[in-house]
Amino acid sequence: MKSFLLTLTLLASALPAFAATPSLKENMKELGVLFREIGKTVADRTRNEANAKNAARMNEIFLAVKVQVPDSVASLPPSQRESALAEFRAMISEIAADALKLRDAFVANDNRTAADIVNHMNLDKREGHDKFDK
Ligand code: HEM
Repeated sequence: MKSFLLTLTLLASALPAFAATPSLKENMKELGVLFREIGKTVADRTRNEANAKNAARMNEIFLAVKVQVPDSVASLPPSQRESALAEFRAMISEIAADALKLRDAFVANDNRTAADIVNHMNLDKREGHDKFDK
């Protein structure tokens, strides 16, 4: 019984290593939740610490997204794929950098700058979805 329990414990602790890498869609879903939360509370200074964490998490997710390939790019003829992927990665790099600037604005309690960055990220989100979420 003891060794059975030990095996179970070992299995459970090893499980995260086998957890599937989130898909692009799953990553975007998490970004959606974080960005909505930030958007609702961007002017609330009592939420700056939590929002700084959420913005830093968005940066991490964008870095993971950067090496993923949207279906809209994968389905292009091979001759167009490389340049479309380069454009996708450039846009994701830019918004990843903005997420870090957003974190810094919350850390500095600069809610006006944070609101400007959120607006800018919203425009980039729209552009990214127009181009790649098909
Ligand atoms: C603040 C920024 C962004 C947020 C909050 C966001 C959020 C989302 C959400 C909620 C979805 C729908 C996921 C679902 O189907 O459940 C989505 C899909 C998608 N987004 Fe974004 N997005 C952002 C920026 C971008 C940018 C900049 C790009 C491209 C340069 C992009 C590319 C895509 C693509 C390709 C999909 C489709 C994923 C799939 O279904 O496989 N997103 N995004």
